[in-house]
Amino acid sequence: MHDLALRRRESLHSGKKCKIGFVPTMGALHKGHLSLVEEALKENDVVVVSIFVNPTQFDNPTDLEKYPRVPEKDLEILKGLSQDLIIYLPPVSDIYGDNIASEPYSFDGLENEMEGKHRKGHFDGVGTVLKTFFKIVSPDKAYFGEKDFQQLQIVRKLVQSENLDLEIVGCPIFREENGLAMSSRNERLSKQEFKDASFIYKVLSEVREKFATNSFKELDDYVAERFLSRPSIKLEYFQIANENTLRAEEKKNNATKYRAFIAVFVGDVRLIDNISLN
Ligand code: PAJ
Repeated sequence: MHDLALRRRESLHSGKKCKIGFVPTMGALHKGHLSLVEEALKENDVVVVSIFVNPTQFDNPTDLEKYPRVPEKDLEILKGLSQDLIIYLPPVSDIYGDNIASEPYSFDGLENEMEGKHRKGHFDGVGTVLKTFFKIVSPDKAYFGEKDFQQLQIVRKLVQSENLDLEIVGCPIFREENGLAMSSRNERLSKQEFKDASFIYKVLSEVREKFATNSFKELDDYVAERFLSRPSIKLEYFQIANENTLRAEEKKNNATKYRAFIAVFVGDVRLIDNISLN
């Protein structure tokens, strides 16, 4: 973070506040990540991109071990983007010292839904690493993708409850041409699996089309049936939820914004996606 300290000192001398944008990532960068970096570059004087595969947010040791790590390639991509980027690749000890553990967090129950239910301790790990990063980088704005919509809402709650002086910016989901949401984990799919995985967004789009005329229950049943017809993809969960509470509701309310959330396995690769419904 030496570059950042230098920039801050320069900005103190010039009397102008240097606006710092922050894009936290776990690397294996793709166009989805880069769309966040580009947005941050537009709105700030300098942008910090962190690349850190955070051990405490993985509930599954095999997933952590197999998570793609290509730091040289990532550096190459980022260096070509802008002079105003600071790339931060901390060793685990920078973030955790010699105690690799997360703090327990409560985010008004947001942490108990969907990903929280299926990946025990995941959001404690995310909360812990982001709180540390926010302290080190002290950004004016931090950028997160709607791809991980639950994470985005949880980070907003973290900033609120910890009274952090920082704006969270949500950015739209960047997709492959076949509709599959871009993800570092897509690198682990075979060609055939990559093709098969386009089915996820296809079904989410169908749900959006049917949303006005079908009940929650009808849509749940529809999705379950669609995936039963595709044995190459295993549905882990499908949930339509209120965008703010992330909870499922009994009945539709016209004033509420709803989103459909999904997690599946394609082979042994776990993928998540979501879509706004109204
Ligand atoms: P990672 O999965 O690397 O994602 C970094 C950021 O990129 C997240 O905000 C994520 O939502 C966003 N992103 C990923 N794929 C995207 C896509 N297809 N379109 C738009 N944005 C996309 O999320 C994490 O890392 C970690 O949990 C982290 C926040 C870095 C904490 O460890």
